[in-house]
Amino acid sequence: MDSTTPRPEILDTAFPWPRPPIDPPPAYDWLRENEPIHQVATAGGGKAWLITRYDDVRAILSDPRVSSDSQNPGFPRFGSMPEPEDQRLFLRMDAPQHTIFRDLLAKNFTLSAMKRMRPAIQELVDDTIDTMLANPDRKADFVESLALPIPSTVLSWLLGVRAEDRAFFNSAADRALAATDPTNPAALDIAMTAMHELRAYIRSIAEERAALDDPGDDIMGQLVGAARAGEITMMDVENSGFLLIIAGHDTTTNMTALGTYTLLQHRNQWDEMRNNPALVRNAVEELLRYLTVVHLVVLRVATEDIEIGGVTIEAGDSIIPLNLAANRDDAHFPGADQLDIHRKARDHFAFGHGVHQCIGQALARLELQVIFETLTRRVPTLALDADSADLPFKRWSGINGLFSMPVTW
Ligand code: HEM
Repeated sequence: MDSTTPRPEILDTAFPWPRPPIDPPPAYDWLRENEPIHQVATAGGGKAWLITRYDDVRAILSDPRVSSDSQNPGFPRFGSMPEPEDQRLFLRMDAPQHTIFRDLLAKNFTLSAMKRMRPAIQELVDDTIDTMLANPDRKADFVESLALPIPSTVLSWLLGVRAEDRAFFNSAADRALAATDPTNPAALDIAMTAMHELRAYIRSIAEERAALDDPGDDIMGQLVGAARAGEITMMDVENSGFLLIIAGHDTTTNMTALGTYTLLQHRNQWDEMRNNPALVRNAVEELLRYLTVVHLVVLRVATEDIEIGGVTIEAGDSIIPLNLAANRDDAHFPGADQLDIHRKARDHFAFGHGVHQCIGQALARLELQVIFETLTRRVPTLALDADSADLPFKRWSGINGLFSMPVTW
């Protein structure tokens, strides 16, 4: 894109704009080039500053004058109401409340905790692939057979979901994904019901644990222990369990499906990974950067006036740091629109940046590494069984993905 490219008309329509299946909306490139800090009207009826350059996104996400508090009237909204105060998730809180939850949960996601989980995740991935390959027709819906069950099963282990409830938990977590399918008018109701069921389920585990002398050492047990010690409330226990399900499930599922789709579209890079598994770790970072599936979730509000890039963002203004636009900034990632599994991309913003940077990133990386290493090794002939043009991409969702993906091998 050069400086003579005309101003896209979509800039005058309410944000967010639909995402093409894989790449960012083209207007992001124009903004990054011409008006890197630009105020737009939003679907919620307000205005928000879009930030599109890598360096500016990093500066905003590390700035203490920027808040994640969803109760602040300036917090960006795309038409939704703020959640009731007692259902607020720590994703949408500032210090000191936010810090209490991070400190409580961080130990579950350390590299050493992940190292201990690797063998179990490898076994789960192998079993899931065995089940998929058992179909004599050599066909499957990749989302249903692989991308959905792996993250939800891993989450159920971490939280401490009873083995006999796992099928319910996985199904409710999967139905909650339906929310963003505009072609299915029943989807929103299905998803809302599933979310209520999940909350009620998490509450029931919390209450059950609270009645025991020892609430256990999985995440639900730790949270109930913290409530018993008076550090948090039982409502906080429910909200935190719920956030972990919502944040840890859809994200990894979509990244698995879209990552596989993208590699199948770049067959030479899939083959390279198969021949050289040492590349997988790097490839996962590049796929995270290139796809930035969580692209409309990082939202902020200014608590003081901020001068940035020749613009004043005033206290109370909504800010949308576009991690997707930043991850495609040529000034930081030369040739950013090309997928290159050899690129050193680990400083991408697919997991955000700053104090709210994804708490589950080590787990997401581990799951994705095991999945891609095992798939390229065990199912090297995996191929799409549909035209790309017919695939149901989640074009309107804040988390990009695929509702289904027919494959063969
Ligand atoms: C936060 C992306 C997987 C739990 C975030 C944020 C992003 C993100 C961009 C930052 C939001 C912000 O700054 O406002 C992703 C992606 C994933 C993934 C792309 C998978 C590929 C997971 C997993 C878990 C998880 C597996 C847990 C099991 C969370 C939580 C937060 C968060 C609890 C809130 C952190 C805070 O506010 O301090 N994630 N995530 N995520 N993520 Fe993830």
